[in-house]
Amino acid sequence: MENRSSFTINNLEKYFRQYRRSVRAPRKFWSEIAQNYEWMSPWEKVLEYDMNDANFSWFIGGKLNITQNALDRHISIRPDKTAILFEPNDPNEKAQAISYTELLSRVNQLANVLKKEGIQKGDRVCIYLPMIPELAISVLACARIGAIHSVVFAGFSSSAVAARIQDATCKMVITSDGGYRGNKTINLKGIIDEALISCPTIEKVLVFRRTNEPVNMVPGRDLEAAQLLEQASNHCEPTIMDAEDPLFILYTSGSTGKPKGMVHTTGGYMVYTGFTFKNVFQYQEEDIFWCTADIGWITGHSYLLYGALLNGATTVMFEGIPSYPDFGRFWEIIDKHQITHLYTAPTAIRSLAKESLSWVEKHDLSSLKVLGSVGEPINEEAWHWYDDHIGHKSCPIVDTWWQTETGGILISPLPFVTPTKPTYATLPLPGVQPALVDDKGNEIEGNRKSGNLCITFPWPSIARTIWGDHQRYKDTYFKAYPGKYFTGDGALRDEVGYYRITGRVDDIVIVSGHNLGTAPIEDAINEHPSVAESALVGFPHDVKGNALYGFIILKDEAVQTDYEQLKKEINQHVSDHIGPIAKLDKIQFVSGLPKTRSGKIMRRILRKIAEGDFSNFGDISTLLNPEIVEEIVKGVQ
Ligand code: WTA
Repeated sequence: MENRSSFTINNLEKYFRQYRRSVRAPRKFWSEIAQNYEWMSPWEKVLEYDMNDANFSWFIGGKLNITQNALDRHISIRPDKTAILFEPNDPNEKAQAISYTELLSRVNQLANVLKKEGIQKGDRVCIYLPMIPELAISVLACARIGAIHSVVFAGFSSSAVAARIQDATCKMVITSDGGYRGNKTINLKGIIDEALISCPTIEKVLVFRRTNEPVNMVPGRDLEAAQLLEQASNHCEPTIMDAEDPLFILYTSGSTGKPKGMVHTTGGYMVYTGFTFKNVFQYQEEDIFWCTADIGWITGHSYLLYGALLNGATTVMFEGIPSYPDFGRFWEIIDKHQITHLYTAPTAIRSLAKESLSWVEKHDLSSLKVLGSVGEPINEEAWHWYDDHIGHKSCPIVDTWWQTETGGILISPLPFVTPTKPTYATLPLPGVQPALVDDKGNEIEGNRKSGNLCITFPWPSIARTIWGDHQRYKDTYFKAYPGKYFTGDGALRDEVGYYRITGRVDDIVIVSGHNLGTAPIEDAINEHPSVAESALVGFPHDVKGNALYGFIILKDEAVQTDYEQLKKEINQHVSDHIGPIAKLDKIQFVSGLPKTRSGKIMRRILRKIAEGDFSNFGDISTLLNPEIVEEIVKGVQ
């Protein structure tokens, strides 16, 4: 991959040249990029698409296996190079360096175990593991044999896991006894046991050991991974995959209750994540890359794992959290492993910037070359703190904008290539054609403009569908602005054409970098026996970016008068149904919600109230119950 000239864009002139080519002749452009990988047989056609029916096929007829490109290909060039550098939660536990040779061997062993336990190409496997090497190995083992992995972040509750297992009709779960996060031990197997009560499609549960705490093993269903691995061969031929065979499903929040299982396919995803990893991080052979995202999120899939391994990189996997055992942990890890790239979320930056600078200054960060930000808009203050104190003004910050749906980064500076500008994701990557659109669907031309961010042409790693519900895929992303992919984000374009992402324009709130659809959380709240109805909005929060504010109507017969107790119960309910990440920061009990005559909640008004802005609610005369607005405002004051 390293020798081809079109693959690496290392100066601004080349960026513009390649960008123009990618727009003028996208098929030619992407077929050149795709040639940098190993294909078992070549594609016959680069692209077929229909933006209205939301059908996309890339590298049609091409055959490959992504693990051959991420693992086998490196064995002859860099067999002993560390592929995964595992840093445990406990700083006193030894870090583990897993070479490419060892990783391939462990992936193959697990792949053989999966096969032996009945997993075939196309079967769905749910992976519910903490950030330990076995998580990466499980993902790759699925890919090795063409099983579709569905990783569920190990912070989700049992009912959230169950919903995802049911939606994808998974056949197997891979989990562990438990996991460590800071000073907490989490009983993951217990959560899975509870989830599986309502998941009849699961035949086998493969259990890794991390905490060695006793767990319940159901005979015939639950299997000790270590025992089976001992007997497994470390040779496993990669299954031949069609470029358009699904590689994985990853769930993201939607604006209705059900999570959306975004489906990514093999060829395009590989081509795009490998290409963007190389360029967005200007990755070099000796670099040590650390993406702090959990593999349970798309950032972990695309850049901690696939993008990094496709480039033969050393990728760091950190089991713990930034504040354990103290606020110096990130900086200590960078120093200890001589990390060159830190790719993290604004919420982590803000939470560490709040603490004393001495936590940073204790450690030598001079190994760093490039800093990355992802997941939510980075505010100016956090950007400068990152630049000043972590990068010492000599590490470009790549503010990378993308989504679970996009599979890879779409808008970002290239470090040392694109001049950065605080809070701006800057320019589209080659092949990416953004547009700003007004509410009526007209494209907004020219600079110094803002609007709804759309993409007008497919790129190789665009999600292909929502698992089991193509109509929903079309309705969610391709209906609002016909002929365009609608991102759900607002953006502005400055005087030179740089993009700044301003935030969601729909009912999704990004809390600490996690996308939370308000609808599923409202559903959870409404299941509390004392709750009649609820409406949730986001409001700005210093560290989390946004936090959740719930307006809740109690049932008449709810005699509960201990409101503080009730708030606790409601939050416990949310935590049980979705996970602790979805807890509400503020709850206000109200007697009604502002509704239109068609019964729709006017969230715009609630958002203003939550932000503490009571000045201008606009026209509320169309409301069914305009008087409620004043009542709610009084309640806040
Ligand atoms: C937001 C994460 C501003 C955005 C990769 C998007 C960002 C959503 C940025 C997707 C950024 C992501 N600047 N906002 N650099 N990156 N977002 O699916 O609202 O977890 O639509 O994918 O995060 O979140 P997701």
